[in-house]
Amino acid sequence: MAPQEPLLLIYHILALCFAQRLFHDEYAVNIVILGPGAIGTLWAVKLAQAGHNVSMWSRSNHDKIHCSLQGQSTSHTFCNRSELGLKHADLILVTVKAWQLSGAIEPLLSKLHSDVIVLVMHNGMGTLDYLVDNLPNNPLLFATTSHGAMKLDGSNVKHTGWGETKLGALNQKGLSCEFLTEVLTDALEPVEWQQNIHHSLLLKLAVNCAINPLTALNDIKNGQLSSEFYFPLLEQLIDEICRVINAEGLVITQEALAKVVNKVITSTADNYSSMHQDIAHQRRTEIDFITGYLLTRAKFHNIAVPINDSLFQKIKKIEGK
Ligand SMILES: NC(=O)c1ccc[n+]([C@@H]2O[C@H](COP(=O)([O-])OP(=O)(O)OC[C@H]3O[C@@H](n4cnc5c(N)ncnc54)[C@H](OP(=O)(O)O)[C@@H]3O)[C@@H](O)[C@H]2O)c1
Repeated sequence: MAPQEPLLLIYHILALCFAQRLFHDEYAVNIVILGPGAIGTLWAVKLAQAGHNVSMWSRSNHDKIHCSLQGQSTSHTFCNRSELGLKHADLILVTVKAWQLSGAIEPLLSKLHSDVIVLVMHNGMGTLDYLVDNLPNNPLLFATTSHGAMKLDGSNVKHTGWGETKLGALNQKGLSCEFLTEVLTDALEPVEWQQNIHHSLLLKLAVNCAINPLTALNDIKNGQLSSEFYFPLLEQLIDEICRVINAEGLVITQEALAKVVNKVITSTADNYSSMHQDIAHQRRTEIDFITGYLLTRAKFHNIAVPINDSLFQKIKKIEGK
């Protein structure tokens, strides 16, 4: 038996007790939302309404954050940057953008105890090494969500589209946290536990690589990608993406991937992609963690991805202006 196995067993038993305590004795989970923007505020309100103890950790120094969801008559007040809230946290839900992750977690590293579960929820890939290196003893999880949220002003958020959330472990300790599926389901269903979250992230990455840069550069809604004009380009793009995610371990044919991409294009036809919105508002995009990540993995596997590369360069050029 490996030396760490008895410890792991104890950890599993504790996690099970923790889960039972939660569900049978109606204890609430203490949750800190790190980066309460559009998606973080949506989860904060929904988790609080499900009976959990939620506080926030934003960049502002205000002790309290007031917010509400459009269409709901009640507004919510959350403690912000509460050291006590952080000390007693069971779960940190990190909802910053991919490129903000290290800057948001770094100042908290010395304050986080090693039992606190860190659940990261951002688009794109490429933050795993940072998390594993800097939080080696914490249960680490990743969630990918297709719920839509938009900040209407400083305190109001609109839930723009119902989606689904996939959740899974990034490390061994994270495997004991499947009970979070129920915690998140209470707030915003459906939530599905993934045995291999890496595969879900690769599929989401593939869809984002196909849709986001094209919609941002052509100033179009997602649905406009279904016009014949974009078909040849989209086909070449998907071919490149498919070869890279296959090499990364997600077995999917080009036809099947094209079907997934087209389904998202149709179901989000009226939406502007997040990259489109970032470019339109002259904000930094998540291109480094979407197409940029794909390029890095393509280089590693020695796969040529010229179309993705050219879209990446064009977005970077706009960002640099
Ligand atoms: N919105 C959606 O519909 C949606 C759907 C699915 C996935 N996502 C993904 O979810 C992630 C977040 O998206 P979003 O739309 O919610 O973005 P957002 O509104 O910009 O939220 C990010 C929040 O993180 C805060 N933040 C940045 N650095 C921080 C730090 N060092 N400490 C504390 N807080 C910090 C930002 O604060 P400031 O306001 O001060 O910058 C902002 O409030 C992205 O990866 C996005 O792609 C979004």
